[in-house]
This record gives sequence, C-alpha cells and structure tokens, in this order.
Amino acid sequence: MPPRAAARRSAGRPRAPRPPSGALGAGPRHPDGATRRAPEERHLLSTPAAKPPSAPSDPAGRIVFPLDVPDLESALAFARLLSGKVGWFKIGLELFTAAGPDSVARVREAAPGCGIFLDLKLHDIPATVAGAMRQAARSGAGLVTCHAQGGAEMLKAAAESAGDAARVLAVTVLTSLKPAGMEELSPEFRQPGALAARLARTALDAGCHGLVCSPAEVSQLRELAGPGPLVVVPGVRPAWATVANDDQARTGLPARAISDGADLLVVGRPLRDAPDPAAAASRLRDEIAAALPGPEARR
Ligand code: C5P
Repeated sequence: MPPRAAARRSAGRPRAPRPPSGALGAGPRHPDGATRRAPEERHLLSTPAAKPPSAPSDPAGRIVFPLDVPDLESALAFARLLSGKVGWFKIGLELFTAAGPDSVARVREAAPGCGIFLDLKLHDIPATVAGAMRQAARSGAGLVTCHAQGGAEMLKAAAESAGDAARVLAVTVLTSLKPAGMEELSPEFRQPGALAARLARTALDAGCHGLVCSPAEVSQLRELAGPGPLVVVPGVRPAWATVANDDQARTGLPARAISDGADLLVVGRPLRDAPDPAAAASRLRDEIAAALPGPEARR
C-alpha cells in the first residue's frame, strides 16, 4: 500500500517521503547573479543533516516538506517516500507534540542526507527560549524557528544559545494572517509587509540566521537582508495544486518566490495531499529549476 493510502487508513490523513545527493552544495545564486556564499563557507553547506545547507545547489534541495501528520509512523513513511525528492523535512508542532524530540533522529535515519527543520516557533521570555533553543540545537536539527515578535532580547538569546549547532530562523508575520486581520494585531502596521520588514530588521540585528516570510514579502525582505541570511517561504501554492479549506492567506507561486530571492520553499499540503506525492515533488523541483538562474538550474 502506498504510504499515503496507509496513512489515510491509520490516521485519517494522507502521509508521505530525503534530500537529493546534490542538495547540499554551494550557495544559491541571487537573481542579480551574485553568488551568495563565499567559497570558504561552502564546506559548511555540504555538511550533512545536523547542519544542512542554507541553500542547496540541487533545485530539489530547495524544497522543505512539512511532516504535518499526527504520528511518527506516518512521518517516517513520508520521509522514506520523499527522501531524494526534497532537501528538508520540517517537524512542526503537531508531530513534535505527538512524538517528541526523538522524532528528529528518527526522521534523519529514515531520510539520510536530508536536513531537519524544527519548526517550534519559540516565543517566551529570553531565558526560557534560550533553554529550549539549546535543547533543539542538540537534537540534530539544522534549522529551528522562533517568533520574531518575541522581541530583540529573546531573539538574541535564541541565536546565542543555538551557537554553531543550528541556524535560527525568525518567523515574521504568519502566512495565514490576512491583511484585514492586521488591524487587530497591530493598528500601526496595517500592511503585513511593513510589520514583516520591521520584525526582520530586529531579528537580523539580534543575530538570527534567517527569516520566514510569505511569498508576498520575499523580494522586500531579500532586499532588506542582503544576500547572506536565509529566506524561507511557506504558503507556496503551485498552480496545479488545490488545497481544500486552505487556511493560508498570503500565498504565491514557487517560481515567483525563487526569482524573488527565496532560498527554501515550504510546501506541505500540495505535496502531501497529491495523488502521487513523489511525482508532485518532482514537478515542483522542475518548476524551481526553471526559475533558477544559470548553472544551478541545469543541475
Ligand atoms: O500545507 P502548507 O503548505 O500550508 O504548509 C505550510 C507549513 O509551513 C505548515 O507546517 C506551517 O506550520 C508552516 N508555516 C507557515 N507559515 C509560517 C511559518 C510556518 O505556514 N509563517
């Protein structure tokens, strides 16, 4: 039985699959053609899972698949299925709450060569976030998120306690937030882009290694961040995908997000719920490849 069907049966939801062999490589090329990483940094980018690539040279390595499933068995089935088709597996609140920190090692075993992205969206007082980030960085995850809205001190504590073990991504404004909802959240910032830019500046000044933003804010945040920090983009919706009852509001196409300067695209339900998740991941990889400039696209 394909993993998706098996997952549906056991958990009432579809399941899914490792990073490609070339997924960890030289830094990405920016639309302006500049190579983002200095040559001396490249050895860092080719270190496997515990410290995976910031932006891989294989287009498939640009794909982050969120293991948004309720149990470890379903997650491992997806890790095995998509191993080699995506560069990263994201463990978020649902799986982490169900299966705990061991899920990081288990997914790494199931998909050797893939990076693990621990999407905990930490948001608490600096001491608490520092403690949680220390543990997260020890787990073997290469990327860990915290909420930029926790403020400069919290972000600094997160970045310091991750040390060299993991890269800290600051989530700016959730992709599910509609511009209309901004007024309740922040009357001063009626446009998500304005708040995202403010939070991004705070996070980078505090030492965070990257940003998470919606497709609508990629070009603005890339310009603000410059070529170094990672820009990771959820809310990506390929034109061929339909997501039932989609809760994402600020969505965008994969090729546009890449040409705007995204390093990694988080694509969940369009792959997870596809009739053939592995084929859908290959199709997404081809779209990413077509949007990449020069040699990266030909890999
Ligand atoms: O299924 P879909 O493609 O919408 O999955 C998006 C994933 O990205 C989810 O796991 C969600 O938690 C995560 N995410 C997001 N928006 C953010 C940060 C993370 O959707 N700002």
